[in-house]
Amino acid sequence: MDICVVGAGYVGLVTSACLAHFGNQVVAVEANATKLESLNKGVMPFFEPGMEEFVKNCLAKGTLRFTANLEEGVKSSEVIFICVGTPPLPNGDSDLSQVMSVARGIGGALDNKRKRIIVNKSTVPVGSGNWVEMLVNQGVQSVQPVPARSARPEAPSFSVVSNPEFLREGSALDDSFYPDRIVVGSTDESAIDSMRKLYNPILTQDFESPEWCSPRPKGFDHVPFVLTDLASAELIKYSANAFLAMKISFANEISGLCEKVGADIKQVTRGIGLDQRIGSPFLNAGVGWGGSCFGKDILALMQVAREYHYPTHLLEATIKVNEHQRMIVIQKLQDELKIIKGRTVGLMGLSFKPNTDDLRDAPSLTIARQLTKMGVHVKAYDPVAMEECKRQHPDLDISYATDLVDLATDSDALVLVTEWDEFKRANWREVSRVMRWPLVVDGRNVLQEEEISSHGMTYRGVGR
Ligand SMILES: NC(=O)c1ccc[n+]([C@@H]2O[C@H](COP(=O)([O-])OP(=O)(O)OC[C@H]3O[C@@H](n4cnc5c(N)ncnc54)[C@H](O)[C@@H]3O)[C@@H](O)[C@H]2O)c1
Repeated sequence: MDICVVGAGYVGLVTSACLAHFGNQVVAVEANATKLESLNKGVMPFFEPGMEEFVKNCLAKGTLRFTANLEEGVKSSEVIFICVGTPPLPNGDSDLSQVMSVARGIGGALDNKRKRIIVNKSTVPVGSGNWVEMLVNQGVQSVQPVPARSARPEAPSFSVVSNPEFLREGSALDDSFYPDRIVVGSTDESAIDSMRKLYNPILTQDFESPEWCSPRPKGFDHVPFVLTDLASAELIKYSANAFLAMKISFANEISGLCEKVGADIKQVTRGIGLDQRIGSPFLNAGVGWGGSCFGKDILALMQVAREYHYPTHLLEATIKVNEHQRMIVIQKLQDELKIIKGRTVGLMGLSFKPNTDDLRDAPSLTIARQLTKMGVHVKAYDPVAMEECKRQHPDLDISYATDLVDLATDSDALVLVTEWDEFKRANWREVSRVMRWPLVVDGRNVLQEEEISSHGMTYRGVGR
């Protein structure tokens, strides 16, 4: 099929490359000139394992190309994916200006040569499907003003479909090739057929595992196609993120109680997570969740509920627990060091989670800002996110280390914020020799307590 993907960020780029890999002709439209230039050279604008080689391969095969020209992309395509950003506004609403401009632009470029399917992959509030349809129609009318009834030309035919994305940064390719489900919201039979056809290789798992991602999990032989109405598809995406964030906040709330009663949250979450109705993923205590989606999607969901005067107590609590949790490591530093003003604290990790350089709503930033405000000298080391951090947060008054030992040198404490593998394999003997004060606060409960203690260091986890 001829596909146009608008927005070559995390979601758009992964979507483009996957569809191109299956032999579709994909044109990805990107408005940011710097990003476009580097994409055309095969250089990724962000860090994602396997992505660069994968995209280069699609470019070499000629199934994927990049352009800045939306009109050309739309005219040459049958299916048009909207994958632009929907960042949060200060009041918690989603900023839908990128979606709005793209939807109008698509309308302005439509012709009546064939029916188009416009697929909303950006995460948008409930009701946005209808709104996008209205905007596309406005775009159509801006170039084809409605004439007198008798002379009305045939209007371009299109259908708006919701197809929320569930990929996780850091494992985006695995998540796209082996997803838990494909959700499509539409009541238009021909659009549904096209979406089923487009996703058929993934639904049937009828393809060789590409070399850029993991081998197909054992027994993974089909993917459920979840067909819903538009509003339900939009709500599925928000509710899924809200539920995952709530699960983490739940583990965090219980972890505080563990500390009071002398229990160990790792033992508690193992014990409850083995209940199949609960499940262990996302039941980890630590410095809390972050990233580009959880916070913004919960706030947007709460905003939708507010419009209907519907109370959302669980969602509010999920956010409150998370805000509190980011500060918990600072309390632990105070417990151990007593006076933290004038101390040096090394942050292990900056990205909001491992295997990405994404810093959006990263707990590291909140912790770093609060510590510097309290008069602490903050150092940081991250295997991939330091350059992004310097670029995006030049105001952040911290120094950057070249590796973990450099970070530990003359530090009074190390705080693990992002659970990179590199930190799990650290040489604690070497680290203990260079620290000024031997304190390790494990903000993700992933380090080996016994090993750290065996080198004469104090270990503090979360909820244990
Ligand atoms: N990042 C994730 O892990 C993830 C996962 C699932 C869903 N989502 C959702 O998917 C959407 C996209 O997220 P993302 O992380 O890929 O965002 P992003 O900010 O990384 O990418 C958006 C891209 O769209 C481009 N763009 C903006 N306006 C444009 C226009 N008019 N024409 C062409 N390009 C334009 C931007 O330059 C940018 O490259 C959001 O709604 C997000 O909530 C994200």
